[in-house]
Amino acid sequence: MCGIIGYTGTQEASPFLLAGLKRLEYRGYDSAGIGVLNKEINIVRAQGPICELEKTLVKNTPDGSCGIAHTRWATHGVPSEANAHPHRDCSGDIAIIHNGIIENHLVLRRALTLRGHVFKSQTDSEVISHLLEETIADTDSLQDAFEQLLGQLTGAYGIVAMIKSSPGTLFVARMGSPIVLGRRDGDRFVCSDATAMADWVDDVIYLDDGERALLQPNNEPIIWTKESENISKQHHTISWDTSVASKKRYAHFMLKEMMEQPKVVEDTMRGRLIAQKGIAHFGGLEDVRERLREIDRLIIVACGTAYYAGCVGEYMLEHYAGIPVEVELASEFRYRHPVINRHTAVLAITQSGETADTLAAIREAKTQGALTLGIVNVPGSTIARETDAGIYTRAGSEIGVASTKAFITQVTALAMLTLFFGRDRNLEETEAIKIAKELELIPDKIESILKLRPQIKALADKYQWMQNAFFLGRTYQAPIAYEGALKLKEISLIHAEGYSAGELKHGPLALIDERFPSIVICPRDEVYEKTLSNIAEIKARKGPVIAITDIGNTDIVELVDDVIHIPSTHEMLSPLLTAIPTQLFAYEMSLLQGYDPDKPRNLAKSVTVE
Ligand code: M6R
Repeated sequence: MCGIIGYTGTQEASPFLLAGLKRLEYRGYDSAGIGVLNKEINIVRAQGPICELEKTLVKNTPDGSCGIAHTRWATHGVPSEANAHPHRDCSGDIAIIHNGIIENHLVLRRALTLRGHVFKSQTDSEVISHLLEETIADTDSLQDAFEQLLGQLTGAYGIVAMIKSSPGTLFVARMGSPIVLGRRDGDRFVCSDATAMADWVDDVIYLDDGERALLQPNNEPIIWTKESENISKQHHTISWDTSVASKKRYAHFMLKEMMEQPKVVEDTMRGRLIAQKGIAHFGGLEDVRERLREIDRLIIVACGTAYYAGCVGEYMLEHYAGIPVEVELASEFRYRHPVINRHTAVLAITQSGETADTLAAIREAKTQGALTLGIVNVPGSTIARETDAGIYTRAGSEIGVASTKAFITQVTALAMLTLFFGRDRNLEETEAIKIAKELELIPDKIESILKLRPQIKALADKYQWMQNAFFLGRTYQAPIAYEGALKLKEISLIHAEGYSAGELKHGPLALIDERFPSIVICPRDEVYEKTLSNIAEIKARKGPVIAITDIGNTDIVELVDDVIHIPSTHEMLSPLLTAIPTQLFAYEMSLLQGYDPDKPRNLAKSVTVE
């Protein structure tokens, strides 16, 4: 949520800042700006995506070797040039960029206004530059002034400030919003996301909450805590595949990421799954293996798509590993006073590893003595670092705001976690081997479903008039119904609801008519016949039905309007296949509605505010 980048070094700052913003654009795209210090602070900003800023920069690129840049996802104040960052103070000698929310901004703004400050934006962030103006006037040292500023802020922030009287210096602070420092030779970088500066740095330092830093070319960063203790932090070398951050030959990141799914499922399994024995190993869980044997309850916390992966996990883990599981929306978890003890493990599922709600849930669980675990995609992210142990999903960078390949790898990891827990509990070896061997076949089966794209595009064409849709499924398919509905509404802006098919008759059926299609996910599983009855109930009310079912299921053809046939698999693994047509359908529908599926309206990747 909001991308920030800063550079100070020996080269021109603007090209780094602009290239960095392009890579950060998935974090917000309603406006953007850069500020460069070269005797004076020059700021260029534009409303809209980064390409709008780029057009303005062609005419007027600020020179200088120290600068900051920001791409915004609006919280306070409409998307506009005036609300775009960087924000200045009254004198124009200070510029700041901010990711997060300053919760006490109204009180601060009122007080600053009374003291004569003139605000130019509606944002919460602008109080930072004006406060810094005051603390600098009252203090001899800029570092102390920065510290005094931070002492007055409540809320979440990643801040980078630039001050005219200190050329070449960037003042950085983190509280609740990710900040990573990077270096190569004499050049110094700061960014909200390590991957955006991956090409330019040799190693990185992750700042933790409450830490501040001062960056200058050629020097080690000065880092201190909010208790004013100077600290030195470890540099981390990370091997990044920067090619994953480009669209390659695909029209959209979302399409590329869907097409990568066979490969990333293989990556998730590599070196972990031993199919012949029906077991899974996780290096990241070894240290807590003994403690995991004592766990009698697992709570999964996550948001959005990751939450639906957790719902699939609940079915898998209870059914085959016999471990009691609850899945909680991370945004609710810590406010509902959950009962937790030492025998509870709390598992966060998150692509970014930075989602504020999920992080808060994990922190709450920790304070109550739970073992905390993570299924995380981004290495080195805050949740990966703050959980006691975990599993990386190895999906690579996911840039499309609509999560696809991350979801599939989360479900793959959960399937292996089921084997991991199950073999320590009551899962029979023969059943475990059956599951593991089927899991090995999943990448090829996903590949064959991806080839159905032309058929699914034709279906999207046929139904492009629809304004509402139900996604329905039972047991393992219920979470896929929720996820399919989320995908469709997120990127095509068509109203869609996901329901357990059995729930329809308890209310939602009232909406069904010939203009209200249902996508029913009904592989031939334990509840297939029951789902057929639900289809009959819809058809009796003239509702169009698209069924997603197994190849070879010809009986269903005459019961529904359209069928997508996909390969069969073990019931527990079927969500890994049934999710794929729903992703493709949402993608094609988004294009038909004239939207950019990579940049859904009002949304951003990495939701780092509560
Ligand atoms: O990074 P996370 O997995 O923690 O993100 C959680 C949700 O914000 C995310 O899955 C969101 O629902 C997706 N954009 C949906 O496609």
